[in-house]
Amino acid sequence: MSRKIFIAGNWKMNTTVDDAVALAKGVVESVGPQDDVDVAVCPPYTNLSAVADAVMGSNVKLGAQDVHWEEKGAFTGKISCAMLKAVGVTYVIIGHSEQRQYFHETDETVNKKVKAALGSGLLPIVCVGETLDERKSGSMEKVVETQVRGAFADISPDDALKCTVAYEPVWAIGTGETATPEQANDAHAFIRKILSDIYSDDAAQAIRIQYGGSMKPANAKELLAQSDVDGGLIGGAALKADLFEGIVKPQ
Ligand code: 13P
Repeated sequence: MSRKIFIAGNWKMNTTVDDAVALAKGVVESVGPQDDVDVAVCPPYTNLSAVADAVMGSNVKLGAQDVHWEEKGAFTGKISCAMLKAVGVTYVIIGHSEQRQYFHETDETVNKKVKAALGSGLLPIVCVGETLDERKSGSMEKVVETQVRGAFADISPDDALKCTVAYEPVWAIGTGETATPEQANDAHAFIRKILSDIYSDDAAQAIRIQYGGSMKPANAKELLAQSDVDGGLIGGAALKADLFEGIVKPQ
């Protein structure tokens, strides 16, 4: 089964609207009209609308970094699926480790968000990954399995196929320390085994699994060459169009 590589830039809490438009235009220009790789950029909420205009007509899709599961109402500070759809968002990152670590994200809230996103026609990028302590203590598989099963609880096979999983070992995020290609591939194969157990081997073979954690032009080619690595969720290197290009088109 060949899965199309999917590279998404998670801009996190970076860029004002002017920075975001400039960066998005740079990405559109450097990525060009190619169609071999799926590409998305995920700016902060305040810049979604402007970036939607900047990427219009290109192969670069728009993603958001989070969403609330409720449709509307008294949820100060939150953004709904309908709001994201209305500004042209295609993908939404759900369950990022920074959300889990700093903003009380749990497997239960991840699952609610995944359901809401799918119900609105948004395509979730579901993030999972262990901390350094969890890896060192040998509980990586248990942690990741719990996160995957939690995120996909009561999600139908058809809906699961609309999701991307991002394996982001917390110890590799923003640290400059990357999982080795073998570590990444082992974790991805393990995630695929869980998806196969929940759904079917066919479904598991079709769902893309991105790697995230200090991915950059210098290590992208080797990571993306792994059999179970189907793309990247890029933080720091997504903030410079030339570095991002170096991952979309690794040399
Ligand atoms: P870095 O690429 O900066 O390590 O961030 C990865 C990440 O968290 C993407 O969601």
